[in-house]
Amino acid sequence: MANRGNWGGKLGFILAAAGSAIGLGNIWKFPYITGIHGGGAFVIVYLICILLVGLPIMMAEIYFGKMTQKSPVGAFKHFESKKIISKQFYLVGWLGVISSILVLSFYSVVAGWAWHYLYLSFNGFSGTDAEVTSLFGKLYVNPYIQLGWHTLMMVVTVWIISKGVSKGIEKASKVLMPILFIILLGLMFYSLTLSGGMKAVRFMFYPDFSKIDAEGVIQALGHSFFTLSLGMGAMITYGSYLKKDVNIVKSSIIISILDTVIALVAGVMIFSIVFSYDLKATSGPSLIFKTLPVIFAKMPGGQIVAILFFILLIFAALTSAISLLEVAVSYFVDEKNWTRKKATVVIGLFIYLLGILSAISSLKIMNETYLDFFDNITTKYFLPIGGLFTILIFAYGIDHKAKMEELNLNPLVYQLFNWTIRIITPAVLIFIILNKMGVFKA
Ligand code: PHE
Repeated sequence: MANRGNWGGKLGFILAAAGSAIGLGNIWKFPYITGIHGGGAFVIVYLICILLVGLPIMMAEIYFGKMTQKSPVGAFKHFESKKIISKQFYLVGWLGVISSILVLSFYSVVAGWAWHYLYLSFNGFSGTDAEVTSLFGKLYVNPYIQLGWHTLMMVVTVWIISKGVSKGIEKASKVLMPILFIILLGLMFYSLTLSGGMKAVRFMFYPDFSKIDAEGVIQALGHSFFTLSLGMGAMITYGSYLKKDVNIVKSSIIISILDTVIALVAGVMIFSIVFSYDLKATSGPSLIFKTLPVIFAKMPGGQIVAILFFILLIFAALTSAISLLEVAVSYFVDEKNWTRKKATVVIGLFIYLLGILSAISSLKIMNETYLDFFDNITTKYFLPIGGLFTILIFAYGIDHKAKMEELNLNPLVYQLFNWTIRIITPAVLIFIILNKMGVFKA
């Protein structure tokens, strides 16, 4: 078998896994969905979802990886050989590989927008509000510019992955993640000094339950999943490079806390800026690409804040993109015995070509752009289905003794955990999937 590689150390693993989790989901998506769904109450529901759904699946995925030392397809094959599952379950591993390819193809295009906005920030945003806002529309209808940035994003991602687990992923995460933490903290402290700072904190942490509806609950559930990179085997893959001495429970808790704190901090920062200039929190997906630049054009020091903000966004996207590519690459390395270089270049090129569809916003499939289509089928269906099977196999397939030994929880906590993963987590996931399929409307 080809040499698969290992993490150099525990910190490297934590930073890489946190890097995977912390991405566009935290800095772009979480703030805008919180804005749409009214703030505090949504945040509380989201935190509950992280605890009851995200955290258990994260533990299950890391456990599968660490135990089998394989990426998703290999891990499920291993379980079949142990008679824990039947052969059809390979499909779940496969679904993970396919999801990672689809997600990266559009994720790279959205990350490309961040690159473009970094470039725009260097010239500074100026002009009327309408002019600044229209920059996004101009980018969106221009396939050439989007392709240019998509190319750059994929080249950097492929380059990092081709260097391997410890020299590529781990090294990049150790450089990018601390810078990301520092920039974000700096921006948060700065934004709290603005007049809207306290209003933002109140908006995020003071729950008004009359503002959240069923749609908000479903969003919170789905997002808790995407933001922790679950349901497609990214954490199985990262877990498979672990040496034996890492505590799964502790690592999963640290990764989930880091991801959650970064999302909350990003939210406070963005809403402080938005409220200071009396703008609306409800503008949706364009919140950071249309609303923020309008303010960057007005606020003192806005250009520097803009540059730092978009660097932050690019770093966050990059450490997630590498984890997406790694899932597909590790499949070909593990199961097809390809060398890492060959797998990285071939799969990277394939994803790049697929991404072209998302970069051309005039192309449509079933009345949606490819970007929305790939986003919807993966986040609404593939990831929750992947997660559901993962938790079912973990809860019902793996025997208690093995889990107790590895997780090392006190017996009472283990019982609580056991019932959560047997009943609550799967029930919640089935609820999301059926709702998305339109079987019933919440
Ligand atoms: N967690 C990443 C984010 O929040 C996205 C992602 C999903 C990465 C699935 C890998 C796997 O942006």
